[in-house]
Parts: sequence; C-alpha cells; structure tokens
Amino acid sequence: MAIQSVGVVGCGLMGSGVAQVSAQAGFPTVVHEISPNALEKGLGSIRKFLQGGVDKGKLSAEAMQKTLSNLRGTTELKDLADCDLVIEAVSENVALKKEIFGTLDQACKPGTLLASNTSSLSITELATFTRRPEKFLGLHFFNPVPLMKLVEVIRTVRTADAALADANTWCAAIGKTVVNCGDSTGFVVNRLLVPYLLDAIRVYEQGLASRDDIDNAMKLGCGYPMGPLFLIDYVGLDTTYSIAGIMFDEFKQSRFAPPPLLKRMVLAGRHGRKTGRGFYDWSTNPPS
Ligand code: CAA
Repeated sequence: MAIQSVGVVGCGLMGSGVAQVSAQAGFPTVVHEISPNALEKGLGSIRKFLQGGVDKGKLSAEAMQKTLSNLRGTTELKDLADCDLVIEAVSENVALKKEIFGTLDQACKPGTLLASNTSSLSITELATFTRRPEKFLGLHFFNPVPLMKLVEVIRTVRTADAALADANTWCAAIGKTVVNCGDSTGFVVNRLLVPYLLDAIRVYEQGLASRDDIDNAMKLGCGYPMGPLFLIDYVGLDTTYSIAGIMFDEFKQSRFAPPPLLKRMVLAGRHGRKTGRGFYDWSTNPPS
C-alpha cells in the first residue's frame, strides 16, 4: 500500500476526527495545530472520544493506547514533510489554505499526496497553490468523523489515476466507504443536503410548524437520525451559512441562498452546539 503515514493539518472538529480514524487504523499520524493550546484541545477531544468508546464497550483500553501511540501532535508544518498523505482540515478560508498548501508543497517529499477536507471550495483552485496538481485531491469527511462511514473522494481534471487509486485504498483501509465524484461545489452530499437544510429554516421562518415538529417530521416521517434544525446546530450555523454562500455564488440558484434568519442567528453568535446555542440550547443534556 502506497500510503503508510499520514499528516493532518488542523485539529478542530473535523481534523481531530480524521487524525483519530487514521491513527486508529494503525497509520502513524502527525496532526498540526497553530498553537500548543489549540493542539492540546484537539488531542483532548480525541482522548475523550476514545475514552467514550472504551466506556461504551466499543473499544478496548489497549486499542485506545495503541491509537494514541500512533498519534503525534506538532505546531510545525515541516514535521509533516515525510508523510505519504497530508490532509488539510482548517477553516474554509481560501487565503489560509493557500498559505498552508504553499508551505506543504515546499516542505513535503515529492511523492506526498496533498488533500483538502473542504466541503465547498474548489479542489481545482486549491491544487493551483501547489506545483503538484496531479497529486492533489479532495477527501471530504463527515461529522462526526469516527462514526460516519462516508468519504467523498474528489478528483480534478489534473488528478492522476494513481493518486486517486491510492486515496481510495487508504479510505478503505480506515474503514470508510468511498464515493468518487468530480470537482463541483458541494460535491454530492452538500449539493443535496444544503438546500434541504436551508428549506427547513425557511419552513420554520414562515411559521409553518414549530422547531420540534419540523425535526420530528423528518426523523419519524423519513427515518433520518436527526431532524434538519438539530443537524444544522450540530454542523454549525456559521459553517452552514458559509457553505450556502459559496454554493449560491457558484450556482446562482435561490435554493442555495441563505435565509435571512440564518444570517441573523450567525451574526448574533448563535452558531449551534459549538457556541452552546442555535435552534437548540446545548447547555442542557439532551439539548432543549
Ligand atoms: N466510540 C465508539 N463508538 C461510539 C462512540 C465512541 N465514543 N460514541 C458512540 N458510538 C457508537 C454507539 O455505540 C453506536 O453504535 P451502535 O450503532 O453499534 O449501537 C453508534 O456509535 C451511534 O451512537 P449513539 O447511539 O450514541 O448515537 P446516535 O444513534 O444518536 O447516532 C449519529 C449519532 C451517528 C451522529 C447520528 O445521529 C447521525 O448519523 N446523525 C446525522 C449526522 C450527519 O448527518 N452528519 C453529516 C453532517 S454534514 C457534514 O458533516 C459535511 C459537511 O460538509 C457540512
């Protein structure tokens, strides 16, 4: 197998999950954050998730220790230089990603595959920040990464067949199911999911039904594990707003236009689970 070691840039919600599943599958994994505090916070969330698995009887204490021994944190991008695959999972900011991919391209060995976990930016554009577009692809994971089985593997017109094959093989090795798709904003999942989530806000905004009735309608009527308003809180209102804005810019279709209520809640700091308040109050367990 071509990919033996993995680097992850960003140890937030998504990056910590990606680093965890990689280490859990036995790959030596180096995860990068900008500060020791941010790194410790991310590694702490991995330890907490693994401990939760041990407490639920899903994971042995030995498997947890083995996973942690495969994981190394760093605040230096150059420590990812020898990795066979480096996955970027920082916030959806093109300038920041440009800086990171420029640095990685300089630092990493020629064979390293570079990938982005972006959910809405163009993989083709991100690849232009490197001199190795044939070794560049999208690896889009889903939240919560350790529990969600899917990875969208995105190739651009410049991605080499061998790079795609190696990425697909690695995703299978970490226990994920791959969906291959081309580089179109939102790929498959968000192309379908985002208009649905935005419509749920519009229905709520119009007063057609209450929050709980909207969520129960989709949970009980369609068998979805979470209602749409709960899921927006889970994903983050700020993230949903940003993805919708990027998709609206790309397609110029009203189905991707962020509803006014979403914008106002984001401005008011109601970003969902991460800030303790969104459509739900997350200070209670379960959220109320
Ligand atoms: N370690 C190991 N296993 C664990 C665990 C842990 N710490 N915590 C939970 N689990 C296991 C549970 O034991 C359970 O296993 P079984 O099915 O074998 O019983 C399973 O994981 C589910 O856990 P729970 O029963 O605690 O929770 P749940 O049934 O409510 O499921 C969920 C939680 C998987 C998150 C589910 O609610 C779900 O699928 N929600 C939808 C999430 C979703 O749509 N995510 C995508 C968002 S979009 C995105 O991410 C992309 C983007 O670009 C915005």
